Amino acid sequence: MEALLETKNLTKSFGGLYAINTLNTQFSEGQITGIIGPNGAGKTTLFNLITGWITPSGGQVFFKGQDITRLPPYKIVQKGISRTFQVTNIFPGLTTFANIRVPILARVGKSLSMVDSVDKASEINEETMEILELVGLLEERDKIASSLPHGYQRCLQVGIGLASNPKLLLLDEVTAGMSPEESANIINLLKELSDKKGVTIVFTEHDLDMVFSAAEKIIVLDKGSIIAEGTGIEIKKIKAVKVAYLGEEE
Ligand SMILES: Nc1ncnc2c1ncn2[C@@H]1O[C@H](COP(=O)(O)OP(=O)(O)OP(=O)(O)O)[C@@H](O)[C@H]1O
Ligand SMILES: [Mg+2]
Repeated sequence: MEALLETKNLTKSFGGLYAINTLNTQFSEGQITGIIGPNGAGKTTLFNLITGWITPSGGQVFFKGQDITRLPPYKIVQKGISRTFQVTNIFPGLTTFANIRVPILARVGKSLSMVDSVDKASEINEETMEILELVGLLEERDKIASSLPHGYQRCLQVGIGLASNPKLLLLDEVTAGMSPEESANIINLLKELSDKKGVTIVFTEHDLDMVFSAAEKIIVLDKGSIIAEGTGIEIKKIKAVKVAYLGEEE
């Protein structure tokens, strides 16, 4: 499979601490990758580096073969990389509908002209509804986002991420605080996005059941380095993973 995104010797140090340490990895087109690792392993830092939220101390990030390492976040979004945050990040005072519509407008609004603005507006509304349906929030569309239950707000975040029409979607602990049912819905959503829309997905996750059921490839990160990488079956066989994550005796 072709690499959609690739990191080469990617490094980030904070003071003396290497949050990401000469990391080399690839995310293949259309694949769902899960990243696991203890608190402080560097999962969020990796997403921050890929999306331009922080600049690396060394190394590079390539997207479709192009070096995107020092581009600002908005340019990286325009290239087709979108993310969600570990802490829920929505427009709290807007309706669910507007939360999705606003970022779509930001993307296509620039091309609005007087002549086609009516058509464009209905296109934008249609796309908004389509995303709301995908993330299961169609019935909540007129509610103010801050009034939604936590799990719905997490789904809304995914919807906002999709509004920029990404090729690569990075989800940082998307199921945190979700009910088992909501988590199951998210797994289905990820599979649907990957299968039907060809979106490449990378997610970090503390719930191992979720990782093993949704991810085609799993990366185990520890202290900024990859300590294991493979399919769920392969990962489950690795001793260090069994000890650290699956509660087995050394
Ligand atoms: N802005 C920052 N300034 C200083 N240190 C930081 C900063 N961001 C992250 N770190 C440190 O880098 C390391 C990796 O943090 P990171 O948030 O990437 O881990 P994580 O794997 O996402 O953890 P968690 O599972 O808790 O979300 C930690 O030791 C953290 O304290
Ligand atoms: Mg994190």
